[in-house]
Amino acid sequence: MQPSGKLRLGINIDHVATLRNARGSVWPDPLRAALLAEAAGADGITAHLREDRRHIRDADMTALKAGIGIPLNFECAATDEMQAIILTIRPHAVCLVPERREERTTEGGLDVAGDENRLAAFIAPLRDAGCRVSMFIGHDRRQIEASARIGAAVVELHTGHYSDLHAEGRFDEAEAELAALRQGAVLAAALGLEVHAGHGLTYDNVAPIAAIPQVMELNIGHFLIGEAVFIGLGPAIEGMRRRMDQARGL
Ligand code: PXP
Repeated sequence: MQPSGKLRLGINIDHVATLRNARGSVWPDPLRAALLAEAAGADGITAHLREDRRHIRDADMTALKAGIGIPLNFECAATDEMQAIILTIRPHAVCLVPERREERTTEGGLDVAGDENRLAAFIAPLRDAGCRVSMFIGHDRRQIEASARIGAAVVELHTGHYSDLHAEGRFDEAEAELAALRQGAVLAAALGLEVHAGHGLTYDNVAPIAAIPQVMELNIGHFLIGEAVFIGLGPAIEGMRRRMDQARGL
């Protein structure tokens, strides 16, 4: 199967808020970053409202929903508090992730198979409110099948392990992880799930992920916000888009 069609690029702007919060000020503004990303051709904006509000805050989500003209992907843990906020804000999409206070970033995928009944009940009102619900999971068959059973529209495959192996120069292991991600994407698509991917993607490692034909969207944050310090956010995003299009044969 050849890579098919243009991939969507969602920009995660959490770390603009990290920088703002480091000074306890109002600058830099995540909404401004989101608008710049939109102008640079991003297809969506992702923001993660964590339980501890370490970067994005409630008011940022409200401002993003009101201010951007592209879809907002609201990333969060499956808690009652987040469900209530989502039902107020009504974002285009919701991506459910596991969350532990002590982690630096989202370290593993969500255990959908181990929490199936609760997650099915959790997402039902979100679906009724018109949100496209995504499960951020590893490539393992059990998690993909459970995501389909509970009625998720999308799975986002966690590329963090692949990215770490690639960065450490462990290319054989990265290749094996890539093969497992490819298999996961095939299974998910066969079950009717839309396939997204993200975490740890950079200019150096994005091409093989972008080339997976079933993948429809990548969500990328940390690398691009870092790159923006040197070359600006617009050019950083455009550089990623070029690599994605190239991998897709466009
Ligand atoms: N997708 C999900 C579900 C995430 O949790 C994150 C990180 O917040 C990303 C994508 C983006 O990862 P990164 O910031 O490493 O590009």
